[in-house]
Amino acid sequence: MFSKETYAARRAQLRADVGSGLIIIPGNHQAPCNYTDNTYFFRQDSTFLYFFGLQREDLVGVIDCDSGEDWLFANDYDIDDIIWSGALPSVAELASTVGVEKSAPLSELQKTCTRAVLAGRKVHFLPPYRADITMQLASLLGLTPEGVAQRASMPLILACVKQRSVKSAEEIAEIERAIATAYDMHVGAMRMAAPDRYEYELAGFMEGQAWMNGGPVSFPVIMTINGQTLHNHDHSHKLTEGRMLVMDAGCETPMNYCSDITRSVPVGGHFNDRQRTIYEIVLSANLEALRVSRPGITYQEVHTAASRKLAEGYRALGILKGNVDDIVAAGAHALMMPHGLGHMMGLDVHDMENYGQIYVGYDDEVRPSTQFGLGSLRCGRRLQPGFVVTDEPGCYFIPALIDKWRAEGMHRDFINYDELEHWKDFGGIRIEDDVLITDTGCRVLGKPIPKTVSEIETTMAM
Ligand code: GLY
Ligand code: MN
Repeated sequence: MFSKETYAARRAQLRADVGSGLIIIPGNHQAPCNYTDNTYFFRQDSTFLYFFGLQREDLVGVIDCDSGEDWLFANDYDIDDIIWSGALPSVAELASTVGVEKSAPLSELQKTCTRAVLAGRKVHFLPPYRADITMQLASLLGLTPEGVAQRASMPLILACVKQRSVKSAEEIAEIERAIATAYDMHVGAMRMAAPDRYEYELAGFMEGQAWMNGGPVSFPVIMTINGQTLHNHDHSHKLTEGRMLVMDAGCETPMNYCSDITRSVPVGGHFNDRQRTIYEIVLSANLEALRVSRPGITYQEVHTAASRKLAEGYRALGILKGNVDDIVAAGAHALMMPHGLGHMMGLDVHDMENYGQIYVGYDDEVRPSTQFGLGSLRCGRRLQPGFVVTDEPGCYFIPALIDKWRAEGMHRDFINYDELEHWKDFGGIRIEDDVLITDTGCRVLGKPIPKTVSEIETTMAM
């Protein structure tokens, strides 16, 4: 945990930004997997972690903007809890570790909420992403489940986004800790990527490395020789020479700060000519994004700059034709990259997307595009020092999409469909780094993970 002063300062800032009313921030509950007592791994809610820092289940934090008080509501462990789950400090003791002076059982939370509703006070809460939290808020506030979704507080969403978007030095240090583990995950898996091994062996290794460093993976590992499927969680295939292996995986520290790294490597350790050609195109887009990222530019513009590099490469290869700016403006290159360049990262691997991704990635100035590809960019807004974003261009030859566009005559002026036929069996490549926006530019976070063709070939030979 950070110091109690960190959490107190975050709550004070939130109170000032929201202005008035009662802010309710529920922590998560245990979630049953296949029967009540067999639960999924417990993951605390990230907003609760940000403002209250505590890992126990069934906690509710309350920030009263009008009285200036912070509260932690929960029931102390009873003897049954202690027998099965172990003794814990009391709720009052837990509260004091994060600078909260007032605590009470959950029955008191109900009274606090009822009083606030009857007095006509504004009660702020975030849109819940779990059904049990929806039901808890409905019951506390006398709402229907549908009413909970409709009554989520826009001032609270915007205040949380404002604060959590800019990472402090101690948060950056945590993220770099998560990337240090991702280094071990990726370099170890690269060295295992020999023919006749199975994807699940490498995926299992990665997950083990994450746990060996104290935290879970930050999302289910993507480890696939079919990288043309963007989020491929099928790990059943045997690795075969000639395939690119896409490894998209990161971890969380014990405090739940994330890493999210992608490397794509040739099974067996040597790039063939086709693999090297596509890899260098994707790498040029990744590097271009790093070259142009700085405060003041929008991430939509960074996406476009990286897209230009992709289009240049495809034009040289003969699969695209025409003027590069026209190709990018029309979105023809998105046939090979139907996703955006990146997203915010922090306590969530896609940071704060539970608030509604549009509030995190866009604002009044920069609105999302409706164009295929660019429309999937999760963060388009103007960059500020302290933002942490991913830089993850890719190239995917998706046979079903190529066939569909060809049949529809999409972008015939820009796409050489006959040439593209030769690439339909290639698979995919993605390269992803986690990037801090600094005062003057940007910095790839963490110890550098092998990324160039020669760095990857050298690493895989060791
Ligand atoms: N690395 C997975 C994603 O960003 O969606
Ligand atoms: Mn990512």
